[in-house]
Amino acid sequence: MKVLLTGHKGYIGAVAGPILQSAGHEVVGLDTDLFAGCDFGKGPQPIPEIRRDLREISKADLQGFDAVVHLAALSNDPLGNLDAHLTYDINHHASVTLAKLAKEAGVTRFVFASSCSTYGSAGDDFLTETASLHPVTAYGESKVFVEQALGLLATDNFSPTSMRNATAYGVSPRQRLDIVLNDLVASAFTSGRVFIKSDGTPWRPIVHIRDIIAAAVAVLDAPREAIHNEVFNVGRNEENFRIRELADIVAEVVPGCRIEYALGGGPDLRCYRVNFDKINRVLPAFRPQWTARKGAQELFAAYRSAGLTGADVEQGRYIRLSEIRRLQQAGRLNNVLHWTGKHAETAVGV
Ligand SMILES: NC(=O)c1ccc[n+]([C@@H]2O[C@H](COP(=O)([O-])OP(=O)(O)OC[C@H]3O[C@@H](n4cnc5c(N)ncnc54)[C@H](O)[C@@H]3O)[C@@H](O)[C@H]2O)c1
Repeated sequence: MKVLLTGHKGYIGAVAGPILQSAGHEVVGLDTDLFAGCDFGKGPQPIPEIRRDLREISKADLQGFDAVVHLAALSNDPLGNLDAHLTYDINHHASVTLAKLAKEAGVTRFVFASSCSTYGSAGDDFLTETASLHPVTAYGESKVFVEQALGLLATDNFSPTSMRNATAYGVSPRQRLDIVLNDLVASAFTSGRVFIKSDGTPWRPIVHIRDIIAAAVAVLDAPREAIHNEVFNVGRNEENFRIRELADIVAEVVPGCRIEYALGGGPDLRCYRVNFDKINRVLPAFRPQWTARKGAQELFAAYRSAGLTGADVEQGRYIRLSEIRRLQQAGRLNNVLHWTGKHAETAVGV
């Protein structure tokens, strides 16, 4: 298939591009490259790309593609604190416009990176795709709105699929340290403390980025009737953890560290425990390979070999919210996250 991969310069996208290529797809990326200065190691492998803001996309950009894998977004709950309108503009409105233009341009499959954070505040029960959604942030809400809009766009010729990904972990050339396992291993490695910001009780399913990408590949390869207008939780049942259990795993993997709780860290509102039977049943090609322990070992080895320091962590280069604030304070991004000056000139089609 000819696949447009939005967000190909991000944490998941930088790994997804080459994997989709090796699965036999012709891949073109689309990204405004907000995290251009945030390479981890050698940075992303170049793939053909359109350097453009999602909010400025036209039907012409979508012509000739068979499928869209849509990752581009302001991607995490705290980013909604930046300005909730931006999260709705990019994650909701621009995503729905992208899907409409894709449909008009004759694209037949649209794979949307949704999130288990749509479940929000949910308690201890195992949640299937039919559970009610209680997002507690603008980010989670934006994902619910897009899922609903995609459902209305589905036709015989346009098959949207929403992948409700668990919280990701793993090593990427565009590493993030603002997601739980990546963060816990980084804090253990650089400071000797596994630092827990909540009281450690919330449930959180986690999934390796390579398993998320394998799920997207499986959706692209599946017969249409298996994925048409479907929602899939992406992860595995055994990989639902309370945050304190993840901390225990990290403390076992990173030698010589101790677990510490932030003073006054209350229960996180986001608490969800998710059932992943459907994707395993409907998409037999999807067989997740990773576990939290194996992921913590991978992260520890990568941080050690890159010589990650406490200063790298504190400087915020790998924290999406901090990097965006830094770019805004430096005047390189304006208040609605468009590039300014010479960066704006390069942010056009390539
Ligand atoms: N990382 C996770 O834990 C996780 C979990 C569930 C779902 N997801 C979803 O997966 C997707 C990818 O997440 P990620 O962790 O790689 O995020 P990321 O922040 O690392 O990457 C997002 C990419 O989108 C690009 N982008 C943002 N706004 C854009 C715009 N207006 N125009 C063009 N490009 C824009 C950024 O430049 C960046 O390269 C997101 O949709 C996210 O919500 C992520």
